[in-house]
Amino acid sequence: MKNYVIKKKYLEKINKFKDSSKYYYEKSSPKIIDSEFDSLKIEILKLEKKYKFLKSEYSPANIVGYKPSKNFEKIKHKVPMLSLGNAFNEEDLVNFEKKIFNFLSLKNIESIEYSAEPKIDGISASLIYKNGKFIKGLSRGDGKEGENITENLKTIKDIPMAIEAKNFPKEIDIRGEVFIQNNDFEKINEKFANPRNAASGSLRQKNPSITSKIPLKFIAYTHGYEEGMKINTQSNFLKNLKIWGFKTNPLNRTIKGIKNLILNHENLEKKRKEINFDIDGIVYKVDSFELQKRLGFAANAPRWAIAHKFSANSSVSEILNIEIQIGRTGALTPVAKIKPVNIGGVMVSNATLHNEDEINRKDIRIKDTVTIERAGDVIPHVISVDLKKRKKNSKKFIFPVNCPSCGSKTVKDFNELTKKQDAVRRCTSEGYDCEKIAIEKIKHFVSKEAFNIDGFGKKIVENFWKINLVKLPQHIFKLDFKKIKLLEGWGELSASNLKFSIDKKKTISLERFIYSLGIRHIGQENAKLLAGHLKSSNNFFKLFQNESFNDLLNIDGIGDTQIKSIKNFLSNRTNLKVLSELKESLLINNVVQFNNNGLLKNKTFMLTGKLTGVSRAEAKSLIEKNSGKIISNVSKKLDYLIIGEKPTTKKINNAKKLNINVINQNEWMKMLNKTS
Ligand code: IVH
Repeated sequence: MKNYVIKKKYLEKINKFKDSSKYYYEKSSPKIIDSEFDSLKIEILKLEKKYKFLKSEYSPANIVGYKPSKNFEKIKHKVPMLSLGNAFNEEDLVNFEKKIFNFLSLKNIESIEYSAEPKIDGISASLIYKNGKFIKGLSRGDGKEGENITENLKTIKDIPMAIEAKNFPKEIDIRGEVFIQNNDFEKINEKFANPRNAASGSLRQKNPSITSKIPLKFIAYTHGYEEGMKINTQSNFLKNLKIWGFKTNPLNRTIKGIKNLILNHENLEKKRKEINFDIDGIVYKVDSFELQKRLGFAANAPRWAIAHKFSANSSVSEILNIEIQIGRTGALTPVAKIKPVNIGGVMVSNATLHNEDEINRKDIRIKDTVTIERAGDVIPHVISVDLKKRKKNSKKFIFPVNCPSCGSKTVKDFNELTKKQDAVRRCTSEGYDCEKIAIEKIKHFVSKEAFNIDGFGKKIVENFWKINLVKLPQHIFKLDFKKIKLLEGWGELSASNLKFSIDKKKTISLERFIYSLGIRHIGQENAKLLAGHLKSSNNFFKLFQNESFNDLLNIDGIGDTQIKSIKNFLSNRTNLKVLSELKESLLINNVVQFNNNGLLKNKTFMLTGKLTGVSRAEAKSLIEKNSGKIISNVSKKLDYLIIGEKPTTKKINNAKKLNINVINQNEWMKMLNKTS
């Protein structure tokens, strides 16, 4: 074809693009359908790539005039973007509903309505609208802090730039999923393993004009912060999203009862292959916003929602070797190295074997032919061994009794709760004395939920350990960057970036600090409880000096197991050294209590007996929401003992002896300005 013919064709396309994009981006009635518009964009970009002489200011490559920046700006989500718990079967769903009934103190004859929404496997985004205008868009990030990806999001046609509907809230953070349809994914040239990676890659790259070339879609499904929204249910919210101009999932349903949820799940799973985008399950949300509010959140996920995953994909492969990995808490986890196999679009070469008992129960051996299962984001695991294919000379796998890293003895703990021996074998060496445990502890220390040091990934931890730069967490804050910039793969800029990220994290919340220490049984939730109780790092360090652990028993949720573990942690000299040196380098913020001016301010409560219509968990959350505190011992520190049905007489007597106010549910409700 002659150049001028090519140019003519190109300009025709550009004109069509220019014409339709006006409608496309301004969201009036589009002149062409979405897919046609997307194809047009791709055709133009392909032509430009092939014939370098083709250029136009109206090219989709130039839609957004935006200067790429090295890093995205980080912005805090006003309301955190949490994840969801998973359910895999009917039993999990029954438990999920049981917990809701218990928390709300409902009777089983009542039925809860759920909004059942197919869970699109994409990337979540938060869109902030003020007075009907799209002003800012963030990625999920670590759930608390996202990246400012506004310019990239603006290139997505499904995202309305302006909304005029009367009932659109004055300010709202609309959340949903950015994804690529399967047919579009096939058309794009870049090499991504699956549509999800392609969506993530194009959304988080630095040049919006590249994002605009990828046919990204957006489906809205929830909201974060809002002001002035008068909607009572999730199903109504979804209806309004549509009216406001967002795309919602046409397969959303409202459903009552577990049996019906399962029927819908089965139906959708059958249809899954025909749908033009990847879904990996169904999200169930309690439909009533009032109940959602009452139920609230556990550590990382709401109590009112769950993701019911679809059954996994599986493939057959061969075990090449069984390796023992040592975790942060010393747990020995066997991992099968398998002949790489494609399971549902993802290449898998490792599968967890969980623990020693699991290997024995299934008699899993090296060289066995096994079926491997992979469900969504869950680590692949071995489900069965094909004994017919077992080689004659195969030998039973002997689980090591000594730690493969440091040679220490390993043990299986006795679980006081279940009165059984743990299935997990652990290295008995104390923390940093075992190389593998030490490395894992440092990885935990810098991880997202702990210090969250940007750019300090697992590989760097391993590398810095090997070359003796970081052997203990405190070394991170004393790094010699003049040395680092001379290391292979490093330079002036990367070293100064790392220094910047580390310096930024020298100020930290008490909650994160406690969590980052990696004390066994002190996860995020318990770290939060401890921080909330202790309030300042001074109290935290004092606690260690005086060994006044018993005070911690007053914290509802902290028990003997946790206290024993903290004591154990502090009986180790290296841990004490870590603590005192970290204290020198860091500024640990005191706990600021939001709403510390509630109706129950500075008052402590304890419950005994059953309350009517309010579960123990909800009572606790009500007290905390109103700035009160729950404690679990009758002592001088207690202000009120709330008594329900069948209380413990001993507690009442003790309380009376100490002159503590003993009140009933009604009196407590009055304190909250509620009457029942
Ligand atoms: S609601 C706290 N609704 O699933 C509520 N999430 O594991 C959480 N997702 O990060 C979000 N479809 O990326 C919600 N209809 C839907 C969803 C959905 C997909 C994703 C989302 C979120 C993850 C939760």
